[in-house]
Amino acid sequence: MKNLIQKLPKAELHLHIEGTLEPKLMFRLAKKNKIKIPFKTVAEVKEAYNFNSLQSFLDIYYAGATVLIKEQDFFELTWEYLLTCKEQNIVHTEIMFDPQTHTSRGVKFETVINGISRALEKAKNELEISSFLIMSFLRHLSQKEAFETLKEAEPFKNKIIAVGLDSSELGNPPSKFKEVFEEAKKQSYKLVAHAGEEGDASYIWEAINLLHVDRIDHGIRCDEDEKLLEYLKQNKIPLTVCPLSNTKLKAVKSMKNHNILKLLKKGLHVMVNSDDPAYFGGYLNENYEALVKDLNMNEDELKKLIQNSFDASFLEGKIS
Ligand code: ADE
Ligand code: ZN
Repeated sequence: MKNLIQKLPKAELHLHIEGTLEPKLMFRLAKKNKIKIPFKTVAEVKEAYNFNSLQSFLDIYYAGATVLIKEQDFFELTWEYLLTCKEQNIVHTEIMFDPQTHTSRGVKFETVINGISRALEKAKNELEISSFLIMSFLRHLSQKEAFETLKEAEPFKNKIIAVGLDSSELGNPPSKFKEVFEEAKKQSYKLVAHAGEEGDASYIWEAINLLHVDRIDHGIRCDEDEKLLEYLKQNKIPLTVCPLSNTKLKAVKSMKNHNILKLLKKGLHVMVNSDDPAYFGGYLNENYEALVKDLNMNEDELKKLIQNSFDASFLEGKIS
């Protein structure tokens, strides 16, 4: 199975570019940009990656992101991830970025997006990897700030396919962002939102009924609501599931308890993604491998999950 996982062309739909910051690059950029980070050695970093919740991870993830200052830093971060895509035979990727994580520190929106886009363009030409960018609003901030970010994105609209919603889920339900998602839809963006990662099924309902999303990021708590399961199945709403992330952040007890294959068997449109691979111990292939090891995933299930990722992508038949 390991060989097959490696060999099959794959797509990734849920990946935070800031979550691909490997400790080595973090240290290099911290030194270059003279940024203080709360670690002295790679071993210390790894030690700190012992999370017990989404928030415990986000605190470290935002601290790590402070080393990203120059356009070249965003380019290198993205290029490193794309080289890994090449190694893992990921031929299409839809990458989230969090502009507010950077603009709040005085880094310009254009610095972030130009650095990332340059790497994506290079990957298209040199690595034959296609990609789209998803701009995520930080949900612990206000809707007003999300509107400001949407405005800042206007000159770069041709580089962004969708808007998303991430960061601290509990206490920040989708309803908080109803109007900004309405405006984004008017501007022809596709829509995604994290929901049902730590939040209960009501967060998923809100993302569907109030934000009108095209895909749900995570969505694993849908299994607490039979009506929701039926709705997701009937309407073929994709759930971009991230198994290693869910176990690392204790959204599930262990990989053996993960519901992804149960959801697949019920006919839901689930697929596998890596979320923040530098922090969770593996990129896309390692996520698939974990399902073989702990859930006895078979070849048909693997192929179906991969097919689902292409079907749910924003390529919409353009290639695949
Ligand atoms: N930002 C980066 N990774 C995230 C996750 N798994 N959930 C919410 N926000 C995030
Ligand atoms: Zn995520």
